[in-house]
Amino acid sequence: LLYLYQGFWCPQVSIKGMMLFQQHFKAQETDLILASIPKSGTTWLKALTYTIVNRSHHSLEKSPLLTNGPHGVVPFLEFDISSRNQFLEQDNLPEPRIFGTHSPYTALPCSVKDSAAKIVYVCRNPLDMFISYWKFSVNILKENEKHLSLGDAFDKFCQGLHGYGPFWDHLLGYWKASLERPDKVLFLKYEDIKKNNVPCIKKLATFLGIPFSVEEEKQGLIEETSRLCSVESMKNHEATMTGTGPLGIPASAFLRKGKVGDSLNYLTPSMVSRVENLIQEKLQDSGLSFCLSS
Ligand code: A3P
Repeated sequence: LLYLYQGFWCPQVSIKGMMLFQQHFKAQETDLILASIPKSGTTWLKALTYTIVNRSHHSLEKSPLLTNGPHGVVPFLEFDISSRNQFLEQDNLPEPRIFGTHSPYTALPCSVKDSAAKIVYVCRNPLDMFISYWKFSVNILKENEKHLSLGDAFDKFCQGLHGYGPFWDHLLGYWKASLERPDKVLFLKYEDIKKNNVPCIKKLATFLGIPFSVEEEKQGLIEETSRLCSVESMKNHEATMTGTGPLGIPASAFLRKGKVGDSLNYLTPSMVSRVENLIQEKLQDSGLSFCLSS
């Protein structure tokens, strides 16, 4: 069930958390906020950022990422922290604290926007994001619960009626912020990370203020980070096979194919051209474009 909250269609389970997050969260200067619309690569961004930030604390084979999973090591502000009212406990976390959020840019607390806290946003082409979202909704529903047909879900998606939609408004909020404040907001695309994994990991580390040293590069640490966080490797992490993610959803549900262009196996040519027209209409003059296939 979705409710309109500050201009965005949010799932009922996250509204209270978003309100509490907005009202009570006090950002610290060193905080890292990983933002996205669901099914855009949140799990991947969490794994990469956690691994980059903690690379000097433990060897990659002993990373807590393997046992606790990306959603365990990087909690969601509106689900994990706010809904459990754990704001005070969070003050004791080691710096830099890393949090995930699906909150639109406009709904972020002032303390996040006004402090030196850094924000990384990951977006994905709308076709793949939509199919990933639809597959996820169908998979996590219990057997006897009804789900929308692909066609109905697609119509709603095009009208902006999906979790944290409209898609366009969500990404444009962060996109504009990244243009205005490039030192504060890094805007990444799923397709770029997929295609240029090593340069993107380097860019992320540099943005976070912890660039890989020449020595680390020689040791192959970037490639190791890339491998550890690849969809193939993550499917075999203990946390994925046995653990749960946010809202008690099996962790394995957050890793499906992890490909660019998979949506083209599900959508008709007319659906694709409808989204292409929307991209044209909604993103014109923004400077943003998408790669729809690999
Ligand atoms: P697919 O359903 O297309 O496979 P989110 O993490 O925002 O919920 O997004 C989930 C999507 O990201 C799923 O896409 C999932 O397979 C993909 N994904 C998760 N981890 C990934 C990784 N390490 N590398 C690439 N894609 C990943």
